[in-house]
Amino acid sequence: MPPQSQHLRPAKARRIVQLLAATVLLVTSAACGRHSADISRSDKAETPAVAEAWPQPDPAALEDSPRKQEVLYGEALIRRTYAYLGPDVADAEMRFAGNHLACGSCHLDAGRKRYGLSFIGVAGAYPRDMARENEVRTLAQRINGCFERSMNGRALPEESPEMAAMIAYIGFLSEQAPAGLDGRGAPALTLMDRAADPVRGAAVFAANCASCHGADGLGKALEGGGPGYEYPPLWGPDSFNTGAGMHRIIKSAGFIRANMPFGVTFDAPTLTEEEAFDVAAYINVQARPEKSGLDADYPDRTRKPVDAPFPPYADGFSQEQHTFGPWKPIEAARKVGAP
Ligand code: HEC
Ligand code: HEC
Repeated sequence: MPPQSQHLRPAKARRIVQLLAATVLLVTSAACGRHSADISRSDKAETPAVAEAWPQPDPAALEDSPRKQEVLYGEALIRRTYAYLGPDVADAEMRFAGNHLACGSCHLDAGRKRYGLSFIGVAGAYPRDMARENEVRTLAQRINGCFERSMNGRALPEESPEMAAMIAYIGFLSEQAPAGLDGRGAPALTLMDRAADPVRGAAVFAANCASCHGADGLGKALEGGGPGYEYPPLWGPDSFNTGAGMHRIIKSAGFIRANMPFGVTFDAPTLTEEEAFDVAAYINVQARPEKSGLDADYPDRTRKPVDAPFPPYADGFSQEQHTFGPWKPIEAARKVGAP
């Protein structure tokens, strides 16, 4: 089965044209934002301030054993997914990812960064009732959700050594995690009273993001041409698809505020919450691979997140308002409607 089609959504393409003028004007200021690129990749480690409360399990410290080998393989798959399961690995059967991202492009420091979509504590959270499918899903199924959407690819067989290794790694990371550890996922932001604004977001992007991700948002390949990225693309044919969690503005803004520009932490963000929403909106309106069959997601529409950018919805609010907000009226209407 081929990966998701690379064809781009016409409605989005139209919106890019509308935004082009704003972008062109801002390319000049992007050049002045370069200082942020000085944060080197070696600064990826957790800051000392939160490291005390936040576990930093290190697989290299495990005693030599087959399990250690499996955990290390899982970590490598997450850090360099493109090298093992990417679109151009030698064995065509192993091409499960449809883009050249790594799981670690989003699950920062291979899932060890607090509020950076961490995997610490995740093993114990599955199987779990998921709204997207309205059924109980295993960790393997959840991982495949990211293969099909964030990686724009296809599901990895649940019995494969690669799936087992990633689960072993996530299990290892979760071993020392106290129950109810604060810092999993991406933090929730306070919802704004206005809609997120892609035009304002273009200015935020030029000043804070373009220096690494490129003014065209297409990222920068690793030295020597890849196949992976030094700075991953935020849109375009090699990015996550329209069904990904990162394609929801509330979710994406929470991730961005706590983690971007690269090097910031949840405790010391540099963007305001409004800037995070606006830049997430700017990224959201760009062209990217389209996931088909999204109308089948959230079969119980009352469990659909307010910021799901695709119909159908259980309420009368427009797709535009669900995508960009303001979301508070949608939430208020849900509360009234709730039993
Ligand atoms: C484009 C960004 C992106 C990429 C790449 C990505 N993910 Fe995710 N992943 C997400 C987001 C967003 C969530 C949702 C987190 C939430 O609900 O708070 C998520 C959730 C998960 C979860 C559930 C975490 C939890 O807290 O319950 C797992 C497990 C997971 N991803 C594994 C993977 C694996 C393995 C890969 C690589 C094959 C991968 N992801 C690639 C963005 C990404
Ligand atoms: C200093 C360089 C740098 C800057 C500036 C920067 N990023 Fe990133 N960004 C990265 C790196 C590096 C990663 C991937 C992390 C990894 O591979 O370990 C990343 C990952 C991401 C991701 C998830 C991966 C993906 O491809 O979707 C998003 C979303 C993102 N950045 C958004 C932003 C936004 C928005 C800004 C501006 C507010 C920004 N970044 C500024 C370096 C940067």
